[in-house]
Amino acid sequence: MPGFFVKDKNTMEKRTFKAQKRTDYKAPLFTASHIDLTFELDDEKTLVKSVVKYKRLTDDLKAPLVLDGEDLVLNSVKVDGLACKYKVNKDKLEIANVPNEFVVEIENTINPTANTSLMGLYRSNGAFCTQCEPQGFRRITYFLDRSDVLATYRVTIYGPTYGCGVLLSNGNLIEQGTQKGREYAIWEDPFPKPSYLFALVAGTFDIVEDTFKTKSGRNVELKLYVDRGATCRGQFAMQCIKESMRWDEDRFNLEYDLDNFKVVAVDFFNFGAMENKSLNVFNSVYVMVDPDTATDTAFYNVQSVIGHEYFHNYTGDRVTLRDWFQLSLKESLTVFRDQEFSSDCANRALTRLHAINVIRSSQFAEDASPMAHPVRPEQVMEMNNFYTVTIYDKGAEIIRMIHTLIGEEKFKKALSYYLEKYDGQAVTIEDFLVCMEEKGEIDLTQFRRWYTQAGTPNVDAKWHYDKENSKLVLKLSQHTNPTPDQSEKLPFFMPIRISFLDNEGHEVRPKELSFKDYIILNEEEQEYTFTLSENVLPVLLCDFSAPVKLNAPYTTANLQHMMSFSADPFIKVDSAVNMQKQYVHENIKNLKNGAAVTDPIELISSYRQLLSSVDEKTDLILLNETMKIQSVASLMETFDLIEIDQLSAVRTMLVNKIACALEKEFTNLYSKIRASSANYSVDNMGRRFTMLFSNLLTIFAALITLVSIILGSLPVC
Ligand code: SER
Ligand code: ZN
Repeated sequence: MPGFFVKDKNTMEKRTFKAQKRTDYKAPLFTASHIDLTFELDDEKTLVKSVVKYKRLTDDLKAPLVLDGEDLVLNSVKVDGLACKYKVNKDKLEIANVPNEFVVEIENTINPTANTSLMGLYRSNGAFCTQCEPQGFRRITYFLDRSDVLATYRVTIYGPTYGCGVLLSNGNLIEQGTQKGREYAIWEDPFPKPSYLFALVAGTFDIVEDTFKTKSGRNVELKLYVDRGATCRGQFAMQCIKESMRWDEDRFNLEYDLDNFKVVAVDFFNFGAMENKSLNVFNSVYVMVDPDTATDTAFYNVQSVIGHEYFHNYTGDRVTLRDWFQLSLKESLTVFRDQEFSSDCANRALTRLHAINVIRSSQFAEDASPMAHPVRPEQVMEMNNFYTVTIYDKGAEIIRMIHTLIGEEKFKKALSYYLEKYDGQAVTIEDFLVCMEEKGEIDLTQFRRWYTQAGTPNVDAKWHYDKENSKLVLKLSQHTNPTPDQSEKLPFFMPIRISFLDNEGHEVRPKELSFKDYIILNEEEQEYTFTLSENVLPVLLCDFSAPVKLNAPYTTANLQHMMSFSADPFIKVDSAVNMQKQYVHENIKNLKNGAAVTDPIELISSYRQLLSSVDEKTDLILLNETMKIQSVASLMETFDLIEIDQLSAVRTMLVNKIACALEKEFTNLYSKIRASSANYSVDNMGRRFTMLFSNLLTIFAALITLVSIILGSLPVC
């Protein structure tokens, strides 16, 4: 999960920002196979010793070994045990005349307290912590700090002389004890990994402990490190860890691969959360929930972020990135996986609606801004700026489209194939797509434009009924506005999920769609015909099957029909939202023309129908989302020129009118719905959401009645 990245002022000033291009990628000239690290932790002068086995990959025998390093005080360098000549030049250490296979020993010191960049090893709140993605390891020691150099790690940590209790790194604990008055621990990670997945944490923590039995019967020790005295706030996160492990086995056949899994929660972590191999580090916000005070949303978020970091163990750690231009490879796939986890284990409608909202509010805005960039960027000045909703969330929508196109079974097959084929390797988005093509039996040539073209496609829809041939004729067209990096856009390849509703609200399926529920739009303009009887309504972009802006000529009556009868949560909610928007637009016009504000008759009758059909099977979360009155901010997005006073007045009238008309229904609903306890559960969450809105609208209606009585008229309803 990305967080807020605060760049250290000193580092900013020293760095020269030079654009790097994706196509400039060069394979490393050397690689490292094993790294042995020793830390003698000290607040201001931590000693780091590294012993690394390097191997030449290039045929150029004269090529020197060039290592990355930033803000390091270098003490000594040896090659194969002997002092050697080296050059330190800006952020590089260059060693010439090295053989084909050799060992480099480096000793350097770093100052964790002065490290305010929060990249590399830093000290905060009395604890030592690392963040190495994307390029923080170079602030620990000189190394080939790039994601395509994978090595096994052995890490020895000597605690600070004042002692701190917990000394952690990746992998398995080999040994721990006290030596010369200092605590120490030795960790070994058998899985080769790039340096960005290295982690070290040292400090004083309480531990929530548990175990997990994998499907093949191995016991995994689970430890969650939290602030002293905070273990009760970590219980839910521990449950989520176990749930994530079980879900990944059940859904994708992925079993955890080490004997322990550790999560550390700290208040000062500014990268959101980080998937370091077997030692995830989180900002406490995404771990700690107090059962007495936390909101349902806080619980829901913890489950999702714990899942996200855990799922990186395969999609990111076991198969990693060749270079940072491929960031979306691990992030989009992992976001897709965490969304599916929340869908299966919490609520599918809520998870999908939340994801769609991120795309339509934040990602579309990014696409329309000077920051617009493709999911696989071509050029980067500073990698830290690319932890964006485009890379993460639009990327996840692209993975979802592949899933739609090839279906669950082929997707699972293709994912297993990809993870097995590239296990222990650093790969590209292209490698992933080829696996999807092979096992998904699909040609994704044109589909690849989703990775290369920034911008949000606009899709326009029109339809008419051809009586003579009993066909519904649908015309779709697409165009994407230029973005600062690209003036011309070629058509995208996208699945448009479609269904049809007859007059009674029943779904009908034309023979043209007997095997699938989507059509493909891949040209600028396309026509589709469906054998249907007259008066059947096409319902387009079900489940928001592509990240596009749809412009379809739905009337208020059409929207009302879809809201009442579509089985698709997105269509239901979006139709309600569009009805609200239409109402607001019409009535702003009325106000301007001096006419009276109308009653939202269609909305009221649809809401009445929804409210009166609530029973124990109703998804209350979906009901809440459908009935929510859009915020002023969200309504504002639909205007080019915003008349803010009128917008706010019309919105208030809308709330008043709905509250007055449906007061009885809201009161009844409120008395029926009670959360069974204060505990978090999806069922309770839905009940609480519903109680809140029905109660609010009941109070609103009562207030309006009171005001009307006092004023002797009904000014607002
Ligand atoms: N890689 C991290 C994540 O999980 C970055 O915050 O998204
Ligand atoms: Zn991630």
